[in-house]
Amino acid sequence: MRHLLDTADLSGDDIVELLELTDEFVKVSARSIPKVPALRGRTVASLFYEDSTRTRLSFETAAKRLSADTMTFSVGTSSVKKGESLRDTALTIEAMGVDAVVVRHGSSGAPHRVASWIDAAVINGGDGWHDHPTQALLDCYTLTRRLGTERLDGARIAIVGDIKHSRVARADISAFTALGASVTLVAPPTLLPPSRAGWPVEVSHHLDEVLGTVDAVYLLRMQRERMTEALIPSLREYTSRYGLTHDRLRRLADDVVVMHPGPMNRGIEIAPEAADDPRAVIVDQVRNGVAVRMAVLFELLASETRAVSEPDGAVVSDPGVDGAPLEISRG
Ligand code: NCD
Repeated sequence: MRHLLDTADLSGDDIVELLELTDEFVKVSARSIPKVPALRGRTVASLFYEDSTRTRLSFETAAKRLSADTMTFSVGTSSVKKGESLRDTALTIEAMGVDAVVVRHGSSGAPHRVASWIDAAVINGGDGWHDHPTQALLDCYTLTRRLGTERLDGARIAIVGDIKHSRVARADISAFTALGASVTLVAPPTLLPPSRAGWPVEVSHHLDEVLGTVDAVYLLRMQRERMTEALIPSLREYTSRYGLTHDRLRRLADDVVVMHPGPMNRGIEIAPEAADDPRAVIVDQVRNGVAVRMAVLFELLASETRAVSEPDGAVVSDPGVDGAPLEISRG
């Protein structure tokens, strides 16, 4: 793996392997000093053209826990304001010496363009409506570990809400089904993409019918910043038909897993008490996101030098700068 651009590039086996590696980094993250020298001397840059809280912080935390140096680029304070193109910005960042660039952009395909211009590894941190591979991986990690399974064979997952504008939905459909799950999209017709040709999903417009049949319900944020036309009569109407309201939460079976990628609109797609319910794994998704991104960075930047990854995660070693093995002792 040289870049991580599209979720669909990952087979079920690739995902399982990355999730197993993630287990090791969850153990590292639980240590009193949650840090390993695996990527010492490497630099990871984040190139974010769109707002983000958790994805950017998560990648930066992941890079730091692997002892990489980090560089942050935010459009608001950069030469993009002076008209610099994406290509020039990417080449400038590369010239400073980076090993990996995490790209978030409002246009679908922007990370692919960056990957064609520079030699560093490129990770798609979310591009337009298109894809968000590390979100899909952290969702698969969170759900499999909650269900106590390696894959999602036979699991039924409802993805509810603004599918049309959601890169998370596209990424998750690909990853969940690669692991064997069956996915039902639940949304009003106006929030579904006009063509779903080739999507391995079922579609419903009735949340109440679907909720009784699923193992997990994945709520999506209403992406008001991407809506160019009035797609729903009102938010109140949306909530009453498609929100995980207090009432629906009461009727939900005890073992259904509630997920949301964040940021949440509490009171719209998810009632505050649903977000805080023990069935919700929303905080676990964020926590696991760091370990998943450690696994991705490790896989992209350290795989050729990877020496030991013991089953108990006690030792992860790397040849280090001068070729001498650098062992990380148990924390
Ligand atoms: C999502 C995103 O930006 O794609 N958030 C995230 O990365 N956790 C979803 C969203 O914005 O609704």
